[in-house]
Formats: sequence, C-alpha cells, structure tokens
Amino acid sequence: MRRIAKFAAGTALATLVAGAVHAQENSVEVLHWWTSGGEAAALNVLKENLEEQGIAWNDMPVAGGAGTNAMTVLRARVTSGDAPTAVQMLGFDIKEWADLGVVANLNDLAGEEGWAEVVPDALQEFSKYEGQWIAAPVNVHSTNWLWINGEAFDAHGGEEPQNLEELYAMLDAFKEQGLVPLAHGGQPWQDATLWENVVLSVGGIDFYRDAVINLDEEALSSDTMREVFDNMTRLAGYFDENFSGRDWNLASAMVIEGDAGAQQMGDWAKGEFLRADMAPGEDFVCMRFPGTQGDVLFNSDQFVMFEVGEASRDAQLAMASAVMDPGFQVAFNTVKGSVPARTDIEDTEFDACGKKGMAELAEAAENDALAGSLAHGHAQPSSVQEAFFDVITQHLNGQLSTDEALERLPQAIAAAQ
Ligand code: GAL
Repeated sequence: MRRIAKFAAGTALATLVAGAVHAQENSVEVLHWWTSGGEAAALNVLKENLEEQGIAWNDMPVAGGAGTNAMTVLRARVTSGDAPTAVQMLGFDIKEWADLGVVANLNDLAGEEGWAEVVPDALQEFSKYEGQWIAAPVNVHSTNWLWINGEAFDAHGGEEPQNLEELYAMLDAFKEQGLVPLAHGGQPWQDATLWENVVLSVGGIDFYRDAVINLDEEALSSDTMREVFDNMTRLAGYFDENFSGRDWNLASAMVIEGDAGAQQMGDWAKGEFLRADMAPGEDFVCMRFPGTQGDVLFNSDQFVMFEVGEASRDAQLAMASAVMDPGFQVAFNTVKGSVPARTDIEDTEFDACGKKGMAELAEAAENDALAGSLAHGHAQPSSVQEAFFDVITQHLNGQLSTDEALERLPQAIAAAQ
C-alpha cells in the first residue's frame, strides 16, 4: 500500500520536473554541500574539467555538513517543479529519489564505459536502482579516522593510541598542554559520526552490523551499547564549552591552528589540513579511530541527474562521464581527502593518508570488514537515521541519561520504521 502511494506521488512529481523550463543546453546546475575550503577546492577540479569541455557550471551550494540542509532544499526545488540538473547525494537518499521516478537513467553510458567492472559492489548497491545505473560515484570517504595536531602528538611521545584507554591518556595529556583535547562540532550528524566510531571501537564490526545495520533489538539495548553511551559521555568531557552547533571545518581549524589536540572526523577533514599547507605525518597525523584498525565505515558521494528534459541531457551525460574518468578521480580525490570510487586506480599520486585509505579500503572489502556509515546515509533510510540522531544528540547533550538512551533507542527506531 505504502509503495503504491509513493509511486503515485512520484508520477505527479515527474510531471512537474519535466515541466522545468530553465534547464539550458551545455550547462549544468549542480546542487551540493561542498562549501568548506577543502571541499570547494575539490569541487573546483570538477568545475574546471567541465568548463574545458565547454559546459557552463551553474553553482547551487547549500551549506551544512553531511548534506541535511541540501536535501531539504532539493525537496523544495523538486516539488515546485524546478529540479537542478545534477545533485550530490549519499546512499539511501539516492534510493529514495529513485523510488519517486524523477531521476535520469545512466545505464547506456555506464555500459559503454564499463562502470560495472570498476566500481566496487558496496557502491553499486547505491548507484543502481532496479538494475539500472542512476548515479555516478565520485569517491569513497571513510568516517573512522582521528586527526591529530603534529606538535601536540610529538609532545605526547608520538605514539598512536591503539584503544580507547590510550586515547583517553592522550586527551588527558593534551589537556595538560593547555589545549582543547577534542575539537567537536555539536550538530546531530557530527555527534552520530563520533558515536558510530565508538560503536565500532567498543563492539567491533559484527556488533556494528547487528545494532546499526540489522537493528537487532538485543544489540541495541545490550551491555555493549551501554558501554558505547558511557564512552560518549566520557568523550564529551574533553570538548570545549562552545562545541554546540559548531561546523565541522571550524573544529578542524582548531586542530590546524594548534588550539585543539585532535578531532574525530571523516577523511574530508584532510582537505582542510591540506588547504592549510600542512603535511601529513608531520604537521598532522591521520590514524584510524583507536580500536577500529582494520575496519572501515564508508560513505560515497555520488552525482544523480534529475530528469529535466532533453536540452540538458548531453551536458548531464558529459558530467557523469567526467566524474567517472580515472584521471579526474585522481585529481579530485587527492584534494578532497577521499579515495577513488574505481578499483583500477594506482595510489602513486596520493599522500601517505590517501595511500593508507586506499589500501585499508581494499583490505576491509576483502576481509568482510566494511560497513556503511550511519551518519552519512549508508546504513539506514533517512527516517531511521533521524531516530538514531535524536537519541545520540540528546544523550550527548545530557538531556537523556544512559539508561534512558538505551530504553529510547529501540523505541525510536521501531516508530520510524
Ligand atoms: C559527507 C560527504 C563529504 C563531506 C562531508 C562534510 O557526508 O560525503 O563529501 O562533504 O559530508 O560535509
């Protein structure tokens, strides 16, 4: 019943989208949330690539990490019959838009260019809908990283913490150095990014899958989950008092400027360090979040083309083709902090963190140690993701005790399904 209702809504939307008038030949209007310094630099690589091909770039940035605001703007644009040509999108959102029947089919291009042979299955899961390619993956990001200020790290002895206890010892040392130990931005998606790292560290990949992917009720209210929430409270003790609402790139800036010791964040943070002319392994350290070595939580930015009429078709296909080009994937991902979405690319041009990211992604895929990020749309559809976010953020802000969070989490998830 629900599915039929969705398709009916989709038909009405499709009519509206087809009526969009200002799609122009040889131009793309691109809706995205890449507005930080590092992100904008990476996006520029794509923009210049298209402009060299004579395709004009009409920029539609919507600030806000993880794309929550961008998705709100997208919904408003599509329902008013004014869909953008191309949209940056994550995981389950791609499926949800495809369900509505408003996205373009890229299958012929994908077939001609052999995408199926080079894009890993974990990504194809989101790039295809009912067997048809509907999205072009530009990268693979990973969320389980810790970024450390090089000087603070050396002053603590230059040893990477291997587990949570060693992490706490390092954060205590940063405090003694007069730094904010852990730079954090209190926004639901950032809270959830930290939380999923802690789930992985405390429980391991199988527990992450049980609780976050399979929504197993026992796992959700287990002692292991209690330990996760207790560790969140302990980590919050290392934030500064102004963490609430802070953007992720401002938290990165605290580490870059030497005001904070470390930040837990996905590898897009590397883009900020590189923009600040910092050298990996010297000025900053990239390491897997303590206790998650060998496991990879991933998310992939993909470009979805909306059905906006024939006039835009060639430019849309040219953009999708550019995104999938091996040379472009190197140029883009070395700036962005992510790794290529293709498995046939050498790591030669990548810095030490990029090489590590590429090798560990391949190993994790091989060892069945790869799982989708909850905070970045690759574990659950948006309704269930929001249920997680609510409980995680309320707990981190002290509005829910650990007992209450453990009780609330399975309830909120059940209600969202
Ligand atoms: C992620 C996205 C990254 C980065 C980050 C912060 O969801 O995949 O490309 O932009 O959000 O905005």
